Amino acid sequence: MYNIKGLNDWKNEQVDGLFLGLYEDDKQSSEVLDEIDTAIGGSLKQLLKENRFNGKAKEIFSFHTLGQLTAKKVYIVGVGKKAEASDEQFRSVFASLSKVVHRDQLQNTAVILDSFIKDKEDLDQLSYLLGEALELTSYKVANYKEKDNQVEKQLEGVTIFTNGSKDALLEELQAGKVYGSGTNLARALVNTPGNLMTPTDLAAAAKDIAESHGMEIDILDREDMEKLGMGALLAVAQGTEQPPKMIVLKYQGKKEWNDVLAFVGKGLTFDAGGISIKPSLNMHEMKMDMGGAAAVLGAMEIIGQMKPEANVLAVIPSSENLLNGLAMKPGDVITSLSGKTIEVRNTDAEGRLILADGVTYAKHLGADYIVDVATLTGAVIIALGEYTTGAVTNNEELMEKLLYSAYESGEWVWRLPSFEPYRKMLKTSDVADLNNSPGRPGGSITAGLFVGEFAGDTPWVHLDIAGTAWSSKGTETGPKGGTGAMARTLANLAEQLNQK
Ligand code: BES
Ligand code: MN
Ligand code: ZN
Repeated sequence: MYNIKGLNDWKNEQVDGLFLGLYEDDKQSSEVLDEIDTAIGGSLKQLLKENRFNGKAKEIFSFHTLGQLTAKKVYIVGVGKKAEASDEQFRSVFASLSKVVHRDQLQNTAVILDSFIKDKEDLDQLSYLLGEALELTSYKVANYKEKDNQVEKQLEGVTIFTNGSKDALLEELQAGKVYGSGTNLARALVNTPGNLMTPTDLAAAAKDIAESHGMEIDILDREDMEKLGMGALLAVAQGTEQPPKMIVLKYQGKKEWNDVLAFVGKGLTFDAGGISIKPSLNMHEMKMDMGGAAAVLGAMEIIGQMKPEANVLAVIPSSENLLNGLAMKPGDVITSLSGKTIEVRNTDAEGRLILADGVTYAKHLGADYIVDVATLTGAVIIALGEYTTGAVTNNEELMEKLLYSAYESGEWVWRLPSFEPYRKMLKTSDVADLNNSPGRPGGSITAGLFVGEFAGDTPWVHLDIAGTAWSSKGTETGPKGGTGAMARTLANLAEQLNQK
């Protein structure tokens, strides 16, 4: 499906669309442009001269070739000013290019990759970014209408024309596709309605991933949890008849089971708030409260395909948070798997409860590094909005590595302060070790630090994706709804963690 060919081969390629990049401040220099222009009788250059196309980033101009070229249609894509070209810029440009590929249902697409480069060294990265963008923008939210919304003509072939190294560029293009598809998997899980994505369904999705990549999987049910003493997860799960699950996936990419990186994802498949019930306005969106689990599963799907030399554990505590007659109540004191007791001041602060047992269980299974991912607080949306994930950590080094992975993945993460007084706010119960809801001020910080209490001395980073897991308007690469936030960052971290 993906091919890399020499730059000059473009002329003979039968494709539905041929894409050529053009810099705003370097419009005349391309040989391919000259040849296209000659083939269509000089009108393209005339158009550029008259400034009818400026080459501004994301500007796209297209025309049918009507038999004058083997490509049916040519798309000229603005790349912006050379001095402003950056990974972020290339991501945007490729996102708009890819959207057009899907919009016009081009089944066979060709891209003159070298026309997008600023420096020769960019080629590998550009190939990766193109593969990722094509995949990310292909995602559509599944609907359940009588007439579904699936497209008739899917993208089948992508051919890149370049003077660069064919093998390396093909590998990058395919890696981009893998990262994109893992993200799309996470999006799809998040967008699935709560009645079709119960903890049991989430466990089945995890099983599919494990089986297709030969990973070990273990799914604990209520009885197992009772035996082990997972009192925090069980307390949340007692308010619903849907059976809870503790989902564990194990990817071993090294000979020895050491340097274990654990991802702990909040798998709350619907959050009504429990007895501290949420207002009904927009409550339906709380089907997205398993966004952390989705990010972890998306990352595992990527890891399963990339096969890095790393050991990765995925731990997903999963439950609904409802309010039947047995539901936990404000004031209840519960005993977590770690032995620490928790006073439940607010049943809607359930994420940190299930994560407490998830993190403790990850440690029991040998985690050396822990990254938890969760749609944990509304407060992080107030602090950072929809675009940036909030982080809390106990370890500078791991935080630095994660920030680097986020940067490479084109995802925004910002660290929140976690000075001592915030930690003290958790110790304000008269009857238990911890208070699960110490109040609104610094709400995202105290929520993160609550989870950190269970990580102890193990290097740990907490990612609050309550704002970023769900897009209210749609993003550059995807529709409104689940975004798949952090799937790529986590997978990238697994690939980089042990590299010096
Ligand atoms: N799942 C919510 C957080 C959330 C809010 C996710 C909005 C996505 C969008 C979480 O379980 C929650 O209810 N948090 C409470 C905590 C509070 C009771 C301390 C919140 O943020 O209000
Ligand atoms: Mn809640
Ligand atoms: Zn929640």
